[in-house]
Amino acid sequence: MMKKFLKPLIVGNWKLTPSTLDEAKQRYLGIIKAHSKYKSALEVVVCPPASFIAPLNSLKRVKLVGLGGQNASFWTEGSKTGEISAMMIKTCGARLTIVGHSERRALGETDEVIAEKVAEVVKCGMTAVLCVGESERDEEGAYLEVVKTQIKKGLARISKQEIHKVIIAYEPVWAIGRTDNVAITSHDLHQMAIFIHKYLKEIVGIAGDLIRIIYGGSVTPENANDLYLNGGVSGFLPGRSSWDPKTFEGVFSAVASAIKDLKKQTKKVPAKVKNKKRK
Ligand code: PGA
Repeated sequence: MMKKFLKPLIVGNWKLTPSTLDEAKQRYLGIIKAHSKYKSALEVVVCPPASFIAPLNSLKRVKLVGLGGQNASFWTEGSKTGEISAMMIKTCGARLTIVGHSERRALGETDEVIAEKVAEVVKCGMTAVLCVGESERDEEGAYLEVVKTQIKKGLARISKQEIHKVIIAYEPVWAIGRTDNVAITSHDLHQMAIFIHKYLKEIVGIAGDLIRIIYGGSVTPENANDLYLNGGVSGFLPGRSSWDPKTFEGVFSAVASAIKDLKKQTKKVPAKVKNKKRK
């Protein structure tokens, strides 16, 4: 599968934290240090509040851990008080921007607004991380349609050729911010990853396989290994686990060991095939 060929991508969503720039710098430098042990195995991007992107970008060691935005306006400029455009985010040093996070959808962002934002982020030369996910699961499987519709509508303003500039972040709302840290099971995640890839293939053909799907919702050092190994995704979008460099390092370590296991598994297959042939 896809993830065997690409480095896993881990995008840390800092949300509305930390309170000060000093804390943000300390956290960022801590994450760069933590990532240095895994830099050949993992691609890591952190998404701080917008006002911290430029100062963190100027810390020079930025290349090792990328920066991203948590949101961007679909307006480009003008009399739009309080808005921050995608180009502004980009020129501050962001290489990607999260769009359509459920916490923004809860504030009233519609699929139509999200589609405009995805288009603007892509137009500005960044990758758009389009967040989708159902609020709850039902036995009849209506949640699958919810996710499909969010993807369809979220991609409505970009061309098929631009779809590879989008990463789908599957973040079921019921799994985000859980105090018991219980995420989705790797089995259910795998089913959803297959469903999303199938739908993307319907839209763009075989290239749909090349679109990265990452998972977010109570990812922790404890569950990241299983979710990566068996969940069929190409990375994660952790929120709270990205706020403390030590915890974030735990996620890196869990994914790195999953990659090793996956490599072992792929090496084992030809040996079995050989043995069968000998018999
Ligand atoms: P969480 O947040 O990891 O704290 O659940 C994930 C997210 O909201 O992106």
